[in-house]
Amino acid sequence: MNQVTVRGRRFIKSIGEKEIEERVSELATSLNRDLEGEDVLFLGILNGSFIFLADLYREIDLESDISFLKLSSYEGLTSTGKIKELIGFDEMVEGRTVVVVEDIIDTGRTLNKIIEDLKKKGAGRVVIVTLLYKPEAYHGAHRIDYAGFEIPNDFVIGYGLDYDGLARNLRSIYRLAEE
Ligand code: IMP
Ligand code: MG
Repeated sequence: MNQVTVRGRRFIKSIGEKEIEERVSELATSLNRDLEGEDVLFLGILNGSFIFLADLYREIDLESDISFLKLSSYEGLTSTGKIKELIGFDEMVEGRTVVVVEDIIDTGRTLNKIIEDLKKKGAGRVVIVTLLYKPEAYHGAHRIDYAGFEIPNDFVIGYGLDYDGLARNLRSIYRLAEE
C-alpha cells in the first residue's frame, strides 16, 4: 500500500512499518540506558501517541509506570492553537522523572502547556520523546530530547496519527500529497 485516500485526500507512504519498528527499538534502548535508576513516569499524550507508546513501552525495562493525558489543538489539517485539557494530571508527578510521549511535535504549543503544568505539579525532570518532529514548525522553548524522525512541514497520518479521526490504524506513516 504505497498510497491511501482518506476523506477524498491522497496520502503517500513516507515511513514504512519496518523503519518505524527499528527506530522505536533504538529510542527504547536510549531511554533504558539514559534513565536507569530514576523514578520514571511515562506520560502519553492522547490520542495520537497510543500506538507509539504501546510499542515503545514494551521495550522499556526501567522500573516505571505509565499514564495518559488528553489534549487537543488540531481540527482537520491545521492547529487551532486552542488547547483543551480533557483528562487531567491525576497521577503523582512530584519529584519524578516524567517522560512525555508525543506522536508528533509541530508548533510545540501542546508541549509548552504540558511542561508548564508538570512544573507546577513539581515534576523533578521532564524528558520529551516524540516519534515525529517538524523542526520548521517548532517554536517551543524546550529541547526535544528524543525524536524518532525529523520530517518536513507536511501533514502526516498513520501509526496513531489521524486525519479527522481516521487513519490511526495504518501501520506506516503517510504524508499528504500535493495536489
Ligand atoms: P502542536 O501543539 O502544534 O505541536 O501540535 C501537536 C499535536 O497536533 C500532535 O500531538 C498531533 O496530535 C497534532 N498534529 C500535529 N501535526 C500533525 C500531523 O501532521 N498529522 C496529524 N496530527 C498532527
Ligand atoms: Mg497528539
